[in-house]
Amino acid sequence: MNLIFLGYPGSGKGTQAKLLAERKNFAHISTGDLFREEIAKGSELGKTVKGIISSGKLVSDQIVLKVIESKIGSLKNDAIFDGFPRTVEQAEGLEILLEKYSRKVDAVLFFEVDEKEVIKRLSARRSCSCGKVYNTITNPPLKEGICDSCGAELFTREDDKPEVISKRIDVYKDLTSPLISYYRTQGLFHIINASRPGEEVYSEIEKTISQAKI
Ligand code: AP5
Ligand code: MG
Repeated sequence: MNLIFLGYPGSGKGTQAKLLAERKNFAHISTGDLFREEIAKGSELGKTVKGIISSGKLVSDQIVLKVIESKIGSLKNDAIFDGFPRTVEQAEGLEILLEKYSRKVDAVLFFEVDEKEVIKRLSARRSCSCGKVYNTITNPPLKEGICDSCGAELFTREDDKPEVISKRIDVYKDLTSPLISYYRTQGLFHIINASRPGEEVYSEIEKTISQAKI
């Protein structure tokens, strides 16, 4: 089963993908996480994408599809594509790649949340280098500024600064939102009310996946 998680930055895609990966053994493929790992390693790819990501623009379709192909080739489990595709060109590229490896897109889950809420969520997000993500309002760590899991100091992502948040929202509207009608016409589209508390969102996702009889 191959799922796509689509939605505004900050709509909760990463949070829910991590839960499904932990509880249902899905492979979680987040292009944003993959790029951040490359930046942390200081690799050539990391150096190429660092400035693009911190300015809130999109990495080129060519680079993104190359990174995705390297992941799809070794996939054994059900998979969630989180934050990919982000343009119609990436969606078309994904279809070709999946076909090459005898897979297909089974469902696209659209995380519906309004713009005001995503700005609030992103402004309050705190991240840890171990991968844990917190929120100072809805999911604070036990000790302020410190990761519950590994004890490291939490940080604010470069692209969670106010001016970059608004750039990412504009980029989403221009380049990513056309994917809504793209997948709707393919009959793969499911709306998730992502403005509710996390566990309620998770239950709706679980129900949607089972009802879709994927
Ligand atoms: P990426 O890392 O994918 O960022 P994004 O899509 O902008 O999404 P976010 O990770 O910001 O939000 P999310 O939906 O995962 O929300 P989260 O669960 O963390 O991409 C970063 C950059 O990389 C891009 O801007 C681009 O430059 C590049 N890139 C990546 N993929 C690319 C691609 N395919 N093509 C080109 N470029 C690409 O939650 C957010 C906050 O809300 C957290 O604090 C969380 O605790 C909280 N929260 C979550 N759920 C709830 C809830 N139900 N209620 C209240 N709070 C909640
Ligand atoms: Mg994310």
